[in-house]
Amino acid sequence: MICLGIEGTAEKTGVGVVDSDGNILSLVGKQLFPEKGGIHPREAAEHHAKWIPKLISDACDEAKLGLDEIDLVSFSKGPGLGPGLRTTATAARSLSLSINKPIIGVNHCIGHIEIGKLDTSANDPVSLYVSGGNSQIIAYEYGRYRVFGETLDIAIGNALDQFGRETGLGHPGGPVVEKLAKNGSYIDLPYTVKGMDLSFSGLMSAAIRKYKEGIDIEDICYSFQETAFSMLVEVTERALSHTKKDEVLLCGGVAANKRLREMLDGMAEDHFAKFYMPKMEYCGDNGAMIAWLGILMNNSYGPDKIDETRVIQRFR
Ligand code: KG4
Repeated sequence: MICLGIEGTAEKTGVGVVDSDGNILSLVGKQLFPEKGGIHPREAAEHHAKWIPKLISDACDEAKLGLDEIDLVSFSKGPGLGPGLRTTATAARSLSLSINKPIIGVNHCIGHIEIGKLDTSANDPVSLYVSGGNSQIIAYEYGRYRVFGETLDIAIGNALDQFGRETGLGHPGGPVVEKLAKNGSYIDLPYTVKGMDLSFSGLMSAAIRKYKEGIDIEDICYSFQETAFSMLVEVTERALSHTKKDEVLLCGGVAANKRLREMLDGMAEDHFAKFYMPKMEYCGDNGAMIAWLGILMNNSYGPDKIDETRVIQRFR
C-alpha cells in the first residue's frame, strides 16, 4: 500500500509518500516565515492553500509515482490551528474524492512518535515531544497512547519564540537562544512542574523581565534552557519510572537543541534506558509522518468513512 500524507497543523505544510514497508518515497514541504510577530492562523491557512497542490505534485514526482498509484490519502486532523486544519482536511478530501481512494485523518503528535520509531530502532519508548505548539510526554500503555504530562499553557518552542521576539533575537527564538546560552551563567528563574504537568508562561515572562532589567542576555538564555529542559526531563523521568520502559525518544522541532538531547540522554542512561532521536528532517512537522501513521491506523482500524455527498456540498 502507498499512502500520501498531508501535514498542515501550524506554519509548515508538507506532503510525504510512504509505503507499507516503511520506505519513505518522498518528503517535500514549505514553511511560512511570518514577517513580524508569531504565526497568524489565517495567513498559515492561506499559505497551505497556496502550496499544497504543488507539494502533492512534487511529492509524486519525487516518488516517481502517478496520482493513480496512491492507495490511501491521510491528513493531520489535529491538534493545530483551526484554519490550517480545515484547509488541510479540504485538500485531502478533494484529493481522495478525485482519485477515488480512501481517506484517513490522523493525530499529529502520534505521527511525530511513529516516524521517530520508524527512523530509529526504538520499539516502545516514553516519548518527549517538544515543538512550537506542543510539549507532551507520551507513552503507549494498556492498548493506547497516553499523555503522561503536558504543558498547562504554552509550548516550550512557543515560549522560546516569544522570548526571542520580545528581546529582538528574531523568530524562531529557539536556535538563537541555544547559541547565546553557550556562554551564559545561571540566574534564578521560576521552575514550574505541577504533578506531571508543566508551565512555561511564568518562566518566559520572568526571562523577558530580566532582559528589560538589563541582565546579561547570555545568562538569561542559559538559565531559560537549563530551567525549561530540567522541567521536561523531570516529567519524562517520572513517566519512565512509572511505565518501567527502557527507551526514551525525543521528537519535535525543539529536539534540534543539543543541550536538551544531552540532558535527556543523561537521564535515560541513569535509568539504563536507551535514548533515541530521529533525523532532524523527521523531527519537524512533515508529511511523511502523516503518511506513515495513515498506514498504521488504516492497518488497525481501516479508513475513515466520509459522507461524500455532504463533503462535496459543503465545499462547493
Ligand atoms: O516541530 P516544529 O518544527 O514546528 C512547529 O511546532 O511549528 O518546531 C519548531 C520549534 C520552534 O519553536 C523553534 O524555536 C524550535 O522548534 N527550535 C528550537 C531549536 N531549533 C528549533 N528550540 C530550541 N533549540 C533549537 N536549536
